[in-house]
Amino acid sequence: MKNNLSNHAIFKKAPLALLALLVFGFGLWAQQDQPPAKPPATEYKIPPEAAAKVNPVKPGPESLAKGKKLYGFDCEMCHGKNGDGKGDMATDIKNVTDFTNPDALKNRTDGELFYVIRKGKGEMPPEGDRAKDDDIWHLVNYVRSLAKK
Ligand code: HEC
Repeated sequence: MKNNLSNHAIFKKAPLALLALLVFGFGLWAQQDQPPAKPPATEYKIPPEAAAKVNPVKPGPESLAKGKKLYGFDCEMCHGKNGDGKGDMATDIKNVTDFTNPDALKNRTDGELFYVIRKGKGEMPPEGDRAKDDDIWHLVNYVRSLAKK
């Protein structure tokens, strides 16, 4: 038996109504996504629970290889190919951390580095949500491996 339910008006109009809803919904969402006004510069604080986070990723060859790849895309332009803080953009941005200096990250926990990479710091932009947790841990492992022995 032929089902003529699909000829019903509501099914003909439904795609249009859906589209309208989507457009409207997107508009609302886009509005919400506006970054809030920049707060006044305050001292950079890392929450203690973030600093205490334990790195679940072992700094083995696989993690370092993944970290190196991501570093090439997102970090090298400032921190430099070898991590010396002399990337192409470092002429405009001062005090880019030199990872080859073994003292640079000595007093930092992995959790603190994770936080800085995820959230950004000073002139350093945040990785934000574009990186998965594990990717950030790979980056933590990789930047640590750049310290001169
Ligand atoms: C636009 C340039 C820029 C990019 C891109 C950048 N950084 Fe940085 N980074 C900086 C600057 C500048 C500092 C020093 C920030 C400060 O202390 O105010 C810094 C500091 C750091 C520190 C040390 C933070 C601390 O307080 O001990 C780590 C770790 C770090 N960056 C990792 C990364 C990683 C990993 C990436 C790539 C995902 C990256 N950075 C991308 C500019 C950059």
